[in-house]
Order: sequence, then C-alpha cells, then structure tokens
Amino acid sequence: MPSAGWRNRASPNDERQVNEQHLEPLKRHPEGRALRAEVDLGRVARNLDRVQRASGGRQIWGVVKANAYGHGAVPVGRALAEAGAHGLAVSSLEEGLELRQGGIECPILVLGGLRPEALPAASAEGLTIAVVGPEHLAEYANLLPRHPLRLHLKLDTGMGRFGLLPSELGACLPALRRLAPWFEGVMGHFATADDPDQGFALRQRRVFEDCLAQLADAGIRPAQRHHGNSDACLRGLLGEDTHVRPGLALFGLATVAEGRELGLEPALSLVAEVARVKTVPPGTTVGYGRTFVAPQPMQIATLACGYADGYRRDLGNRAVVGFANRTFPVVGRVSMDYLTVALPLDVPLAPGDPMTLFSSDPTAPHSVERLAQALGTIPYELTCALHRRISRRYFP
Ligand SMILES: Cc1ncc(COP(=O)(O)O)c(C=O)c1O
Repeated sequence: MPSAGWRNRASPNDERQVNEQHLEPLKRHPEGRALRAEVDLGRVARNLDRVQRASGGRQIWGVVKANAYGHGAVPVGRALAEAGAHGLAVSSLEEGLELRQGGIECPILVLGGLRPEALPAASAEGLTIAVVGPEHLAEYANLLPRHPLRLHLKLDTGMGRFGLLPSELGACLPALRRLAPWFEGVMGHFATADDPDQGFALRQRRVFEDCLAQLADAGIRPAQRHHGNSDACLRGLLGEDTHVRPGLALFGLATVAEGRELGLEPALSLVAEVARVKTVPPGTTVGYGRTFVAPQPMQIATLACGYADGYRRDLGNRAVVGFANRTFPVVGRVSMDYLTVALPLDVPLAPGDPMTLFSSDPTAPHSVERLAQALGTIPYELTCALHRRISRRYFP
C-alpha cells in the first residue's frame, strides 16, 4: 500500500484541528489579514450589566453558542465570566470543551442534551447538562454516580423542540426522582418573546409554573429556574425565575425596540481593507452577471470579503459600507471572496484603506440590525455566519 506521509499528520476527522493549525500564523500576525471582526469586550461587559439590571438583578447564563454568535466564544466567554455572569451556555459538548480548553472555569451549561456515552467526557470537564427528553433517564441515573455532573431539566412549555412535555412529566417522575440529587435547575424556552402579543408567552409561563409545582410535589425542587432569553429579559417575562439566559442582547443586538431603549451597544464591527482600486469609464460593468453598470466615471474598490466569509450575497446592489465618515454602495454581485464598492472620483482612496461592512453604530444603515431588516432576516443570522477564517481582534 503506498504510504502518503502527509496523510498521517492528522486524522481525517480532525478537520477542525487542521483548520486551527492553518490559521495559527495569521493569529500571530493579524495585520496580515485584510478582513477582521473587531469586538469591543467592554461593550459586552456593559451590555451584561444592562441586561442584568433589566432582569431585576437575576443571575445570568450568558449564551455563547455558535462561537458566541460569531463574536468568538473563548474571548467573549472569558469577558462575560469576568464581568460577573454566573455561567455560560452552549449548544453542544464540543462547544463546552472549546471553552474549557480556552481556560474558562465558570459553570458551562450544554443546552442541546447529551447521549449517555458522552456523559463521562462532560463530567470530566465539569460541564452542566440539560436533560432534554424522557429518553436516557435510566441510563443517566446509572452513570451519574460514577460520572457526576449537574443537570438542568428542560421542559417543553410550547417551543416544540427539546424538553419533556407536560403530558410526559407524570410518567417520568419516578425516573426523575432518581436523578433528583443532580438536578440544579429547571428550564424552558419562549417561542414568541419578541411578539407584541404576549398571550402565548404568558401561556408558556403558566405551563412552566404548573410543571414546577408538579415536580415540587414529587420532592424535586432544584435551586435554579430559568425560561427567559434576551427578549424575555427586555420585556419583563421573567416571573419568579432565579436566572436568565440571554444571548443576543449581550452582543448589543435586539429584535425588539426595548433593546435600543436600554442603550445596548453592538459589540462587533466588520472591517475590510481595500484590496484594489480602479477608475472606470461609464458603461463599465462590475462582477458576475454584470448587474451593475457604471453610470459615470467612478472608482471601484474591491474588498476581500465575500459570501464565504458570511457577507450575504443578497447584499450586493443593496447594502452600503462606511468609509471616511460617509457611506458608499456595494455594487454588483457579492462573490465568494470579494465585493465591490462604488465611490465618486473625488474621494481620496488607496489600497489598504479600511471600510466598515458591519457598523457598531446601531443607527448606521450598515449596522447589523439594519442590514438584517433590509434582508428580511434577524441579526443572529448575520453575525453567526461570520466565518472562522475572519481574524478577530478584541478590545478591552
Ligand atoms: C435554549 C436557549 N436559551 C437561550 C437562548 C438565547 O436566546 P437570545 O439570543 O434570543 O437571547 C437560546 C438561543 O437561541 C436558546 O436556544
């Protein structure tokens, strides 16, 4: 059999490790990257404080899943822990392990549940696990004495995804009683906290209260209870909860007006340096499909940011970027690695000049919230899509 030495350097399953190794030189030399996300950790800490005050001082599980919504899980997680978050919440075992490997020691809650075979690893790393259904309860009870960890029981109060249904609770009580020593919390998740009509959210809260009463009658009274995401914190849907689980608001973003009223500060801006500038005559077409035709002589700046980086293709001929205290249109189609911006001839411009693609000024037309609105989506989708190949710079 031919031996290909290069193949042996990493197992094919170790794709993430290979990617990270590949990026190491750039992490040491961030100036080598023409595209960067700049994250203001001071803003993250101030947002935590604002959300905590809006939540009546309740303790915070800061949700940092999906690489902290694209902001960078380890630096943001560390900043939140240092600023006083009770703990961090992630979606998977891998995300929890990434935080531990990054040196984060605070409680970490894995929201997405775990198969029993993953329990030993979670226990060894001191992770806290959401129990998301009636399956595996017996296996958990058998494993926990040898692999102890804290559990949060997730109830499906109306989200329709994870969690024990109220109708399943009665039959599960004997199994849950066996797990009682490990239960630290009970949780639910709102489906419509952003809806001006709070009817369904209030119904979910009533279901939550009924389930908690049923658990208490069976002698299961965990210390923590939490049902609220960012919008629930901003809209006072917190009932008697001890903790809250905001994500988006910590990054200074919101889908409801209360976010701006609270003064949340967007933590991230996306900056690309101009890779090339050219002056074009009228009639010049730009990019795939020739969707932009220069109406007059103008400068076209090419930036090294495309849909592979998470800058949406449908922002072409629609978005603006910030430069020299003005905004200029993104023209033509956004391609995989590049986008193009049109500027008048009299604007001084040179390769290396920085342009802002996502502004941290919430009122700017190229803020994440405004771009998401223009696209008919939510801010989450835009920041979560920011690829790991973009270098992140952190400011205290
Ligand atoms: C279970 C759970 N809790 C809390 C959050 C945080 O939500 P938000 O970012 O809207 O505050 C999420 C996010 O999707 C979630 O899935």
